[in-house]
Amino acid sequence: MKTKMSLLASGAIWLAGFAFAGSAYAADEATQNAGIDVTADNFSCVNDMTRVRHFFVDNLLGDLEGTLAAANSPNGATYPPGSVVQLVPSEVMVKHRAGYNAATRDWEFFELNVSEAGTVIDKRGFVDVVNRFGGNCFACHIRAEPQWDLICEKGHGCEPIEFTREQIAGVQAADPRCK
Ligand code: HEC
Repeated sequence: MKTKMSLLASGAIWLAGFAFAGSAYAADEATQNAGIDVTADNFSCVNDMTRVRHFFVDNLLGDLEGTLAAANSPNGATYPPGSVVQLVPSEVMVKHRAGYNAATRDWEFFELNVSEAGTVIDKRGFVDVVNRFGGNCFACHIRAEPQWDLICEKGHGCEPIEFTREQIAGVQAADPRCK
């Protein structure tokens, strides 16, 4: 009886060790596959981000300089991994590492619910995220000419949105997360 118990116990330890080794391997693979772990905590008051013209940028991997260089390039550029781009508080694009999603050129689209309490991610994904006005983020943004890396602004080839820059500035200023 005693032997049986200890065999069971050592079996459990062995299984636990195996499961641990398995998840460590999976974590390594995930890092190689370049997933940047993006959570609601990565998003806050847009006005605390760095302004470029009429929109805001940041970089989750610390490469704000690279993101700014891409955003300010007169001929367009590929944004570096970790780039965060926002026009309005509730819509965000985040750049994953090269090769993460070929269709969207590694951009992930987010639709957020923002309030004084903070940020909740309502929807996220690559080619199938639809905003609160029924528009598919990717379908619009992919129309930017290739050198602009899916960034629409004005004159990059996207269909214009129905909001004026003044209206957009009003929505930015009213971000309820700003203290
Ligand atoms: C109807 C087409 C359309 C849809 C749908 C759309 N966008 Fe955009 N988006 C635009 C246009 C056009 C601009 C540029 C507006 C300007 O600069 O005046 C823009 C601007 C932006 C910007 C600022 C950088 C840039 O590209 O100029 C971000 C970030 C963004 N949108 C994210 C999203 C996300 C995330 C979604 C979905 C949740 C989304 N958009 C849905 C057309 C669209």
